[in-house]
Amino acid sequence: MKSKFCGIPVESKVFLSPMVGFTSRASRIQCKQYGAGFTYIPMEHSEAVNFNEEILKKLKPVKEELPCGIQLTGADEKSLIKAVEKVEKLVPLIDLNFGCPSKKILSSKCGAWHLKDLKKMKELISAVASVSNKPVTVKTRIGFDAPQTEKIMKAIDTGAASAITLHGRTVKQGYSGKADWNEIKKAKKLSCVPLIGNGDIENAEQGNKLIEQKYCDYVMIGRGALGNPICFSEIPMNKSKSELIKEFIKLNEIHGFDESELKTQLIQFIKGIRGASIIRKQLSEAKTIIEINNALKELKE
Ligand SMILES: Cc1cc2nc3c(=O)[nH]c(=O)nc-3n(C[C@H](O)[C@H](O)[C@H](O)COP(=O)(O)O)c2cc1C
Repeated sequence: MKSKFCGIPVESKVFLSPMVGFTSRASRIQCKQYGAGFTYIPMEHSEAVNFNEEILKKLKPVKEELPCGIQLTGADEKSLIKAVEKVEKLVPLIDLNFGCPSKKILSSKCGAWHLKDLKKMKELISAVASVSNKPVTVKTRIGFDAPQTEKIMKAIDTGAASAITLHGRTVKQGYSGKADWNEIKKAKKLSCVPLIGNGDIENAEQGNKLIEQKYCDYVMIGRGALGNPICFSEIPMNKSKSELIKEFIKLNEIHGFDESELKTQLIQFIKGIRGASIIRKQLSEAKTIIEINNALKELKE
């Protein structure tokens, strides 16, 4: 389903979630090739963007992965604004992370930590949106310890975000339990801007149904897309795991890769197939791309 997301033409309303360590450039391109309408360069800390030129260089997308956004997290206005000024020319959209539950991120007063002070969160969004030349969107969760969707939506909406992604879990839940889609539906009714629903979606068909049923305007698939780029296809597709892996490795060779990240991604691809445990062991011991390819020769599906 074609659409204009924050003014950006997209081929589908089903997006790829940002996932640190997994949604690399090759992964974003492959998911886009199978139908993902939009992807994100996963969360970078504003301080890393501000003080590390190498990180900044790595963030520049190639044309094959556009349209995609960059996701930033940060503790304060000054640092986030400086980071936005550095990256906004690279991409058509900036997303702010107010949902990451990791201990490291929370202890640096970033990510979901902002849900503890909604007034400050609103001020942060307003400040960043007012200086940015690109749409600023927000990705968050339904609450910290318990759902407080109404309060969160009010803070974000009035803070001038161009779209909101809501993961239907609290921070306390982490990734356990089930995403609460009733809270997402409630948020859609309260929101003046497009709402992207997120949590436990397996494929485009399921996502499009949720959009039709007015739970949200767009959806994002996270873990369901790991090793499974085909989940974005709106038409049934017959592709073996080995074909998908071959394509993925080729994209990594073209666009560059981090060896240990590639190995973890490949382990996702082989999940559940015959002989996976042997291949997984060989993959984890592999030290070069040749050894990685050798491990995959055992692949039978
Ligand atoms: C390994 C991993 C890394 C993640 N990294 C990010 C991130 O960088 N930014 C973000 O907003 N969410 C991140 N998330 C959360 C996902 O984007 C998504 O919101 C969550 O997994 C729920 O969607 P799902 O049920 O479809 O997986 C991450 C999740 C996982 C499992």
